[in-house]
Amino acid sequence: MKKINLNSEIEELSPEELDDREQNLLSRAQEVSKMAYAPYSNFQVGAAVLLENGEVLQSSNQENVSFPAGSCAERLLLGYSGANYPDSAPLMLAIVARRAGEEVWAEVSPCGICRQTINESEKRFGKPVTMLILRQNGNILRVKGISELLPLKFNDLNT
Ligand code: THU
Repeated sequence: MKKINLNSEIEELSPEELDDREQNLLSRAQEVSKMAYAPYSNFQVGAAVLLENGEVLQSSNQENVSFPAGSCAERLLLGYSGANYPDSAPLMLAIVARRAGEEVWAEVSPCGICRQTINESEKRFGKPVTMLILRQNGNILRVKGISELLPLKFNDLNT
């Protein structure tokens, strides 16, 4: 028997350490989180993506009374992006969340299905997606590519 240790490299930065492009992306995610439709969880998520063509798109989570029918902000956003900008790779994805009525930002991290969706974007466009994830302590996690969050991922039907 041999043990395999999987290591992930994740950077934690203070807001001042972000460059203008990163700060802008985070602000866009914060703005759009206010428009979340989350009457069942009250967990209001905002996501913004920077495309290779320089455009920034954004989305919040949109829930449904039949819970599985709702969608996370990230998945909705990457679906919209892929459908409308099929030639422009998503390069950077900012993710924030807040509980309705609370001032502070909540701790958030993409769910398993969204991780697989981000992986699909990397496969499709051949470019890693850098994630910026706002923490409750105000710092930002910078994750350079989905492999850091999804080791041993399912990636190929033919192997
Ligand atoms: N949610 C997201 O939109 N993104 C995440 O990264 C985590 C969870 C949504 C799904 C659901 O509407 C609510 O947050 C509570 O899980």
